[in-house]
Amino acid sequence: MMETEVISIHDMSESIESIQKAARVIQSGGLVVFPTETVYGLGADATSAMAAEKIYRAKGRPSDNPLIIHIATPSDAEDYTVTSPLYYRLAERFMPGPLTVILLAKDTVPLATRGGLDTVAVRCPAHPIANALIRAAGVPIAAPSANLSGSPSPTTAKHVIEDMRGRCDVIIDGGDSEFGLESTIVKIVDDDTLLLLRPGKITPDDLREVCSEIQIAEAVTKALAEGERVLSPGMKYRHYAPKAPVVLLDGDAPTCIRYIKENAHERICVLVYHEELPLYEKQLPDARLYDFGRRACAEEQAHKLFYLLREADKENYDVIYAPTPEKEGVELALYNRMIRAAAYKIITLK
Ligand code: TXA
Ligand code: MG
Repeated sequence: MMETEVISIHDMSESIESIQKAARVIQSGGLVVFPTETVYGLGADATSAMAAEKIYRAKGRPSDNPLIIHIATPSDAEDYTVTSPLYYRLAERFMPGPLTVILLAKDTVPLATRGGLDTVAVRCPAHPIANALIRAAGVPIAAPSANLSGSPSPTTAKHVIEDMRGRCDVIIDGGDSEFGLESTIVKIVDDDTLLLLRPGKITPDDLREVCSEIQIAEAVTKALAEGERVLSPGMKYRHYAPKAPVVLLDGDAPTCIRYIKENAHERICVLVYHEELPLYEKQLPDARLYDFGRRACAEEQAHKLFYLLREADKENYDVIYAPTPEKEGVELALYNRMIRAAAYKIITLK
């Protein structure tokens, strides 16, 4: 176990010294957990193979699963990747922000950082602490989500500390992540075509504003077939899976409640849309009910999902039920994360 310093930054104007201290840790090859607008990241110098190895070790992550390199401004990608006109159209519209773009890598990015691939993922985060840290470090910061491999990405300092205390040098507590799900990942296929590898806050419709064709990788909404070639190494790893089985229910509230009652379990947990809470409370008085946000507000649900899954995971439930999101807009990102948490188990009740 290593000594981890936790630094709280709640006011950017008083943060300069803290940021500089964390930046020096990055420069000397250390590990710093920092907040972004999506989820917390576990960062290290992206130009150092040794630093990348440290990240893999701290997370318990297979080293063929590449890291995203975080840059301070879109044009910084020039030093590390082969950019294109479409990259700059994306940058102009969505950066800084929750978008990651896969580009051909230059030799300046060590193979360890990109998991041995000839491409590399770049992202320019909008969070002021992330941005200030990258600038102060003077190098791009390689960072996966700051969870132990296999558990949901952390969206609060508390969850980061649970996973990463003793495994990194510094944790910067910058409060709760605004969005709560990881960035949208796209790969540039050609100048008019993007392949969506991971949905996020930036939706396929948003992407269509700068690119005429948006292809959606099959693995975004379906389980990979045995032996199928993966487009993104992360797709093949088990993700976001709590200890209790998660079951997605697709139906209206009364039908779901009936199903839950018929399938006897002792310790039941349900993520319930805000409006449906009174009905669930009346019908399932013994179940633990978590408010999953308003039905029509996917961003509220995105903000809560990983937090709730992690909290639920501590309670040893026999089963965790959750609703099935639509496959459109921001809900596509929820759907993508939730089917993984549920190991693709959806009970259709309509
Ligand atoms: O919001 C986010 O993207 C957060 C914050 C910290 O920026 N980061 C994040 O990183 O979610 P990570 O490592 O947990 O997820 C990155 C995903 C992985 O599934 C990885 O396989 C994929 O991106 N990836 C990275 N480089 C790739 C590449 N060159 N080609 C295809 N997929 C890549
Ligand atoms: Mg991750």
